[in-house]
Amino acid sequence: MSEQFDNTAGPLTTESGAPVANNNQSEAAGVGGPLLIQDQVLLEKLAHFNRERIPERVVHARGAGAYGTFTATADVSQYTRAAFLSSVGKETETFLRFSTVAGNLGSADAVRDPRGFALKFYTEEGNYDLVGNNTPVFFIRDAIKFPDFIHTQKRDPYTGSQEADNVWDFWGLSPESTHQVTWLFGDRGIPATLRHMNGYGSHTYQWVNEAGEQFWVKYHFKTDQGIKNLTSEEADVLAGTDPDSHQRDLREAIERGEFPSWTVQVQIMPAAEAANYRFNPFDLTKVWPHEDYPPIEIGKLELNRNPENIFAEVEQSIFSPAHFVPGIGPSPDKMLQGRLFAYGDAHRYRVGANADHLPVNRPHATEARNGGRDGFYYDGRHGGQKNYEPNSFGGPDQSEQPLWAPVQVGGATGAWETPKHSEDDDSVQAGNLYRLMSEDEKDRLIANLAGFISQVSRDDIAERAIANFAAADAGFGKRLTDAVSQLRK
Ligand code: HEM
Repeated sequence: MSEQFDNTAGPLTTESGAPVANNNQSEAAGVGGPLLIQDQVLLEKLAHFNRERIPERVVHARGAGAYGTFTATADVSQYTRAAFLSSVGKETETFLRFSTVAGNLGSADAVRDPRGFALKFYTEEGNYDLVGNNTPVFFIRDAIKFPDFIHTQKRDPYTGSQEADNVWDFWGLSPESTHQVTWLFGDRGIPATLRHMNGYGSHTYQWVNEAGEQFWVKYHFKTDQGIKNLTSEEADVLAGTDPDSHQRDLREAIERGEFPSWTVQVQIMPAAEAANYRFNPFDLTKVWPHEDYPPIEIGKLELNRNPENIFAEVEQSIFSPAHFVPGIGPSPDKMLQGRLFAYGDAHRYRVGANADHLPVNRPHATEARNGGRDGFYYDGRHGGQKNYEPNSFGGPDQSEQPLWAPVQVGGATGAWETPKHSEDDDSVQAGNLYRLMSEDEKDRLIANLAGFISQVSRDDIAERAIANFAAADAGFGKRLTDAVSQLRK
């Protein structure tokens, strides 16, 4: 996909193209003597090597990606004017990057952690990125808490390891996390492979049709391979013996021609229903129960091509929740609003100001046209064309058509909490999830949670954490109390 050249024949050269005489012996001042500064082959090679890494992603550092095809299986133009969703059978090229959240670049795949499900649609109206997870909800509901939350998941500043104290202290003090934590420590917390799990857009997004009618939507990607998970015990062994298990499984399946696929569904809420819905539809710690808004199928996603160069196409790939196309926009979800800023900022730091120009990131089905120019690694693509607008020499024009529809707001500015709707509290959906589980799954959930909570150094941290589960379901709390006290004896 990137511009390639033949590196298999011809003379070995320096970066500036001059032939290299000896790539095995550096140049010394006499036999057995010290090295010479005039050995530019050696100096250039060592210097380039020192610059091979770019900063890893601050979260979701560990990941694997593949190209694929999205095929629309329904005409949803009554809900959105997005062209790639406008007719049955329409195909759009995609790139999907899976990831774990907390681990560093070299960490193991088979761990208990949400999985990133970051999907780029290369549409003819520009790239649409849906940067979701394999979970329909999240731990917190306000972007301002995200850096604190992630600090508790990452390495402690003193010990250099993830610490049970930090994790459970934060979760115990953030009762809104109870739903996601119950999900994470249940069976789906460690998928068997990246192919055997669902993906979710997680947030609520806006769709708007040609007539300007607005809808709130949630995306679901249901695996066609079936859900398969690992138990904690299986994962512990696999993470230790085969840390790259998930990455390799994905690559090899695609090499075998066993292309993984997902059925794409959306839940659609007419905008007028949002105000009186029983849950705040913009609260990321909540799902919309399917009986309220049944998911409808809109397409198939298939992954069918491996990247050729992991660094160029996976490490340097960028996804942003702010990459929208006409007919799709954000909701007022405070998490999503924070993310609209965070990703572009991360990309400019991690990959540079021209990250959007790299082959994996640039639009494939259209061109990016604007007055943006220059910066590190600018490739000169615009030649001598004018770099301002408006101009009378010809150039791209603004469309006068916002991508998404305006949202009515009112009241005073302020650090407001996300408003609660009639059935909103931090426990109700966690309790419902617990009660949906089979007895076997409940046993595993309790064992997984108790095993981790029991590692904390202070009783009050354990007690606060358990109290959140007890608020979700009294039986859940009782079983957890017993299991933790057993382990902390
Ligand atoms: C306000 C909350 C959040 C902030 C500030 C945030 C920030 C970030 C940042 C800075 C990155 C690294 C981007 C890069 O270096 O390219 C990232 C990656 C990612 N985040 Fe978030 N995040 C938030 C919440 C979420 C949520 C709720 C989800 C899923 C529903 C999510 C899914 C992802 C995924 C999948 C990636 C990896 C993207 C890739 O593969 O390149 N994040 N996040």
